[in-house]
Amino acid sequence: MTDSAMIPALLQGGIIPTGSRVNVFSEIYWVFLILGTLVGVVVIAYMLYNAYKYRERDDAPDTVEDRPVLGEVPTGGGKGRKLFLSFAISAVIVISLVVWTYGALAYVENEPPTQGEDTMEIEVVGYQFGWEFHYPNGATTDGELRLPEDTTVVFKVTSDDVFHNFGIPELRVKVDAIPGETTTTWAQTEEPATYEAKCYELCGAGHSYMTAEVVVMEQSEFDTWYANQTAEGS
Ligand code: CUA
Repeated sequence: MTDSAMIPALLQGGIIPTGSRVNVFSEIYWVFLILGTLVGVVVIAYMLYNAYKYRERDDAPDTVEDRPVLGEVPTGGGKGRKLFLSFAISAVIVISLVVWTYGALAYVENEPPTQGEDTMEIEVVGYQFGWEFHYPNGATTDGELRLPEDTTVVFKVTSDDVFHNFGIPELRVKVDAIPGETTTTWAQTEEPATYEAKCYELCGAGHSYMTAEVVVMEQSEFDTWYANQTAEGS
């Protein structure tokens, strides 16, 4: 199977994480943490076991079977079977992880999972030193982004002057803001909450002040606020 055919199959099979970005990234985090810990424990335990098994002893016979010889590649006994097995298991783990992670990241990088009513497109413009947000109805806010709850938000990000980087850690959003170019990313809002968007690319003296408040509001509250925003009035 080619890459492009395999990934959707894995997505459908539920092997590769889908859903919100937060979900996808936390699954990647936990899989790597648990697998890494597991491999570390096995390797260190096996190393300690061998260090103990072949420790220096006064009463040790001169020729212990399987004893590794300094300067020689160990066959691992059994005519290299152990060596082959460890290579094979490592290869399976590494290749599976690469395919799995690639699939998860491809899903995140692709178009948002839901299109339609619950999708809102926000145009984000970075400048020295702040963020401007343009809403579908033509309204504009500066330094504050208001979003409705339980919504898929598509961000179209660009810059007015130099390179910036738009990031909202809690929503797992981080994307370049480049003058003359538009980069697209998406996120899903859930409960009403307040987050902070920041610039993640050193862009000048005011870089560290280049923040914006992200306010996720209850749907009705948002609707009221949004209805009062007009292209001219903001
Ligand atoms: Cu914009 Cu740092």
